[in-house]
Amino acid sequence: MRWNARAYDSSFGYVSAHGAPLVDLLDPQPGERVLDLGCGTGLLTAEISSRGARVLGIDGSSAMIEKALSLHPGLEFIVGDGRDFTVAEPYNAVFSNAALHWMGREPDTVISNVWQALTPGGRFVAEMGGAGNCAALTAALSTAWREHGLPEPDLPWYFPSPAEYATRLEKGGFTLRLLEYFDRPTPLDECPGGAADWVRTFAGSLIQGKPVELVESLLLRVNELAAPALRRETGWMADYVRLRFAAVRR
Ligand SMILES: C[S@@+](CC[C@H](N)C(=O)[O-])C[C@H]1O[C@@H](n2cnc3c(N)ncnc32)[C@H](O)[C@@H]1O
Repeated sequence: MRWNARAYDSSFGYVSAHGAPLVDLLDPQPGERVLDLGCGTGLLTAEISSRGARVLGIDGSSAMIEKALSLHPGLEFIVGDGRDFTVAEPYNAVFSNAALHWMGREPDTVISNVWQALTPGGRFVAEMGGAGNCAALTAALSTAWREHGLPEPDLPWYFPSPAEYATRLEKGGFTLRLLEYFDRPTPLDECPGGAADWVRTFAGSLIQGKPVELVESLLLRVNELAAPALRRETGWMADYVRLRFAAVRR
């Protein structure tokens, strides 16, 4: 899908904000080479760099990379696809926040590419959506689409269970050191339009090319359906479930 880098940072800065503890788990060391896969606008790449590591941010979206380059002059960012990338020299660690679930239709290929990009003993530290992530949001999407006579929406994400992803990592040549699977209800503070705003930013491919009136009607219905589960007195809350892991290349 196409990412809107400006809207991403102003409305969804919480994605990077939640990534800060993941940088602690990575524990980058001065002089280490760290690759940030699906780096977005590079906020966490810069955080890793500030701890003394030499970083490369890779992202599939040229808009994200342009923004990253303008926000963090002096750091290296390139456009690249997690499902198809190689590096000239191996890295001590590959880091990824909130991005692997976007590359998930070929998870073993991504894991294999990460393995290839690491030195033996190199770390793979990441957080992604896990099984059940956004269940209320996606149920509302499916129902709204069905009610409008549309085929089931082709959701672009891969939200594996801990057991499934652990097996893939082990089979892919990694030793798993830590795996956490937890609910993280996340306030959509900057989404006055509620679930509809979330769909526009994170599931834009589902509404792309549809007539404006149809999109308005679909998103209105998504909000109605999602509200009982996700709207609180204080605002909208996304039903996020995360999978966080640290693994080492064997
Ligand atoms: C929710 S953002 C997270 C960005 C950043 N890691 C952060 O914490 O703010 C997901 C990012 O994954 C990128 N992405 C999606 N599919 C990708 C792919 N196949 N290869 C590389 N990047 C991809 C998107 O362009 C987007 O920047």
